[in-house]
Amino acid sequence: MADSGFGQMAGRRRHLLGIGGLDPGQIRSALDLAETYISLNRKGGPRDVLRGRTLVNLFFENSTRTRTSFELAGKRLGADIVNMSTSGSSVSKGETLIDTAMTLNAMHVDMLVVRHDQSGAAALLAQKLDAAVINAGDGTHEHPTQALLDAVTIRRHKGTLENLTVAICGDVLHSRVARSNILLLTTMGSRVRVIAPPTLIPSGLAAMGVEVFTDMERGLEDADIVMMLRLQKERMSRAFVPSAREYFRFYGLDAAKLACARPDALVMHPGPMNRGVEIDSAVADDLQHSVIQEQVEMGVAVRMAVLDLLTRDARGNA
Ligand code: NCD
Repeated sequence: MADSGFGQMAGRRRHLLGIGGLDPGQIRSALDLAETYISLNRKGGPRDVLRGRTLVNLFFENSTRTRTSFELAGKRLGADIVNMSTSGSSVSKGETLIDTAMTLNAMHVDMLVVRHDQSGAAALLAQKLDAAVINAGDGTHEHPTQALLDAVTIRRHKGTLENLTVAICGDVLHSRVARSNILLLTTMGSRVRVIAPPTLIPSGLAAMGVEVFTDMERGLEDADIVMMLRLQKERMSRAFVPSAREYFRFYGLDAAKLACARPDALVMHPGPMNRGVEIDSAVADDLQHSVIQEQVEMGVAVRMAVLDLLTRDARGNA
């Protein structure tokens, strides 16, 4: 069945489980609506499109900006928000994900934002819940709102998402941010390169249309966008890099390496940053190139757009 609405259908609802499966038109509609919310946020105007709706933030992994950003997004649209952290919940007593889902279902939640360390957790919840499920990061699989906020940041600076050269550098193996960005940027017609030590390069990148570099200077040549990734130690079952110092020497972004990219290259990082490990502090704070703080601002607007789009059917104004 042709379905031109935003997100993925499962059960009776629309969800945002990943960038995979979204077409350029759907991505553009989310970014365009985010632009509207950026202006509204700057003016401080309250909105009420989600008045009377309930959003639950269910985070099985730590988060600062993503959880806060979804909370602010929901509040700015007038929704009631409940934050559930799993340490103080029945999950720590051994409740299964499905049981947690059924409990939330019985409470008639409208939207569920979920972060989980298992790839596929958001999709599983979407099968079981009557709520719209938004994936806020599932294992090493996807983090779709991060890719959308990165895209809106890029588009505002470069005017387009087509024909750009984007270098994604660092711990690609463990990164759902990299995966969602690769899917989005290639769908929109940009070239994506990945730069990482051989131990942190996942298989299957060539099939995703990505060029792989192990030499950072070569990989950064003529890049329009330099997207740095955190070394995700919590996902590493063994030592993937010899030492932080050595990693920084070869794969940390400093002014000398950045000089290989285009003079007007943007520097991005999803946060949280390990300063002095994957990025030099001076580069992270250099507003000539760095848009890291702007990414955080865009995050709230993008999440407002996603919550708005996913609930349009249920609000009767699709
Ligand atoms: C990312 C995540 O959790 O996947 N962070 C984020 O959402 N801002 C990346 C990371 O943790 O390194």
